[in-house]
Amino acid sequence: MSFLAKKTAKTVAIVPVADGAFGTWLKKLDPKTRAWVDASGFTGAAGSFLLLPNGQGAISRVIFGVGADDSVYTYADLPARLPKNAGGYYIAQKMTAERATAVALGWALGCYQFTRYKSGKKKEFVQLAWPENADKKAVTVTVDAIFRARDLINTPAADLGPDELEAAARKLAREHKAAITVTAGDAAMRKNFPTVYAVGQGSPRPPRVIDIRWGNPKNPKVTLVGKGIIFDTGGLNMKPGSAMELMKKDMGGGALAMSLGAMIMAHNLPVRVRVIVPVAENCVDGKSFRMSDVVKTRKGITVEIGNTDAEGRLVLCDGIAAACDDKPDLLMDFGTLTGHARAALGPDLPNMFCNDDAMAEALLAASKRVQDPMWRMPLWAPYLEAMSSKIADIRNDGGHAGAITCALYLQQFVDKGIKWVHIDYSGWNFGSRPGRPEGGEVMGLRAHFEFIRTKFGKKNR
Ligand code: BES
Ligand code: MN
Ligand code: ZN
Repeated sequence: MSFLAKKTAKTVAIVPVADGAFGTWLKKLDPKTRAWVDASGFTGAAGSFLLLPNGQGAISRVIFGVGADDSVYTYADLPARLPKNAGGYYIAQKMTAERATAVALGWALGCYQFTRYKSGKKKEFVQLAWPENADKKAVTVTVDAIFRARDLINTPAADLGPDELEAAARKLAREHKAAITVTAGDAAMRKNFPTVYAVGQGSPRPPRVIDIRWGNPKNPKVTLVGKGIIFDTGGLNMKPGSAMELMKKDMGGGALAMSLGAMIMAHNLPVRVRVIVPVAENCVDGKSFRMSDVVKTRKGITVEIGNTDAEGRLVLCDGIAAACDDKPDLLMDFGTLTGHARAALGPDLPNMFCNDDAMAEALLAASKRVQDPMWRMPLWAPYLEAMSSKIADIRNDGGHAGAITCALYLQQFVDKGIKWVHIDYSGWNFGSRPGRPEGGEVMGLRAHFEFIRTKFGKKNR
């Protein structure tokens, strides 16, 4: 674990110096120490630190430039960079509970590494004494949810097939005493998930629909649907290698939905939560579904397959239709749905669509509060026309503005009167930043939780 219960005689102080405070801080030092700081060339620049020696040759303090000192990730680089031989560290500063929690979260996020396939030595991280006032439970629950989702996304499809994703869902359900049903293979067809079946029919590993339910049904119902594509070759409309490379991440929506559900359950929020993950592997095979096939969806809308690579919206549309069966008070869906979402906003900003302005505002406000950004995109109805089919009710591709048309496609499956949020996101850090290493990432997870907590949950964390 990244934390020590409390500071001891052996823990070393980290002294934060904010932008602009360096000069004043320097003046307060004794001449000898000041000379050491001068000699080192340390200027207190954000992200840099300086070790100060004590008389006995040990480290007395770490001076750390915190810049504006307002980011969750301010301290996230330190667990990997500070000397390992000290007996841990503590932050020598009074912080509000909110800031202490954010700082602890950043520290913990700096301690992630995906080690499953590394036989060499693992990176070692140093420990921090829990900052006073930090909400330990909130940090622990959040970090666990993020790390699990990252692990799922980072695990290659050979080792994270439908069975393994199902096992992860069953484990989660068991931990929270939630009910779970999994409808797999032919049963998926019998139980009326035709699009999930169609997308998965080219894989030897059968598709399925995971459905987790938890909480008192009298509470407000929040239903989370996540795209669970094990690997996206594009199907018969096959992707070139360069576009296929990262497609193990195509269950990133399912991972987000599961982790968000886990946070809600761990915090015992007064909601009834349901997590639906339609799982399929989009393969190239003699049994694969084809361009021009027509699938009658769960809702009864017929869809012409214009492109087998627009498979995410196909599995989600049956998941969304199933979600509407019990009329949730809030329906959210998540997926790594389009390259266009990334083209529009880059990899860091999830594309958020919502059919209710007040909901959207509340979600954006929550996102700001916890520094987990996203951006609202329009459900621009006129673009729906681009997906009209000559022989079916709709087709699964077409038009410009691919993230918008995907959202509009899915909107056709949301029953009237249901408040709905749709998230199209990248699920991947394309480079390493403190607390956000290259690889799987669940952007928006903390924002969604904060939104649900404040909308439906207890007022206090
Ligand atoms: N999983 C991809 C979307 C994706 C691509 C996410 C690259 C992140 C990075 C999705 O299934 C897909 O292939 N979408 C197509 C849709 C198109 C065929 C209408 C896309 O974005 O090109
Ligand atoms: Mn695809
Ligand atoms: Zn996909």
